[in-house]
Amino acid sequence: MSTDPGSAARWEDVYRDRGADRVSWFQRQPQPSLDLILQAAGDRRAGVIDVGGGASPLAVRLVEAGFGDITVLDVSGRALDASRRAAETALGAAPRAVTWVRADLLAWQPARTWTVWHDRAVFHFLADPAGRAAYLAALRQATEPGGIVVLGTFAADGPTHCSGLPVTRWTAEELAAELGGGFTLLHSRRHEHRTPAGGVQPFTWITARRT
Ligand SMILES: C[S@@+](CC[C@H](N)C(=O)[O-])C[C@H]1O[C@@H](n2cnc3c(N)ncnc32)[C@H](O)[C@@H]1O
Repeated sequence: MSTDPGSAARWEDVYRDRGADRVSWFQRQPQPSLDLILQAAGDRRAGVIDVGGGASPLAVRLVEAGFGDITVLDVSGRALDASRRAAETALGAAPRAVTWVRADLLAWQPARTWTVWHDRAVFHFLADPAGRAAYLAALRQATEPGGIVVLGTFAADGPTHCSGLPVTRWTAEELAAELGGGFTLLHSRRHEHRTPAGGVQPFTWITARRT
């Protein structure tokens, strides 16, 4: 099995074998993501991109909250199909407010910018500096000056692996330092995610503004 976190086949297998609502990261209510985005982006016209968004209900919740420009990017077509189906079920039709993009974040060339970049549980898979550099290059290309980054990773006392892949665990200070001088830390918090199997996974969340 490949240990490349960007391997599409690997993620397709995970979503096929477990189902989108049985994976350890599944949440029915996408918190604290939703609160942090609402806190940071009062203007519902703000463009929001959920990178590695998978089948998360976040896009639907953002539509319900009045956002009109949402992009869900993921390397797994199966996860994106599940996201689209869930949106159709919840909202009655595929919402025009949401665009689904199948791409490898680390090789992606963004064609536009967004005000809010949201990542829950993707960055922590990037174990090597080259991967993190590619991620940060995409982040800088895809966000506007003044834009907001909402980033959630496993905390320093979080799991060491997810889906059989090793992860890097982060404190808020380490995440802010990793983003570098072009970002100002606005907020950080700890959140304990309860997995569908009943486990507890501590996350570090930060919100930062691109200066
Ligand atoms: C742990 S899951 C989190 C999914 C979602 N953010 C959530 O909270 O429900 C990681 C997601 O990142 C996606 N992913 C992993 N590497 C990626 C890459 N290089 N480019 C785009 N998506 C990626 C996977 O397909 C998967 O959906």
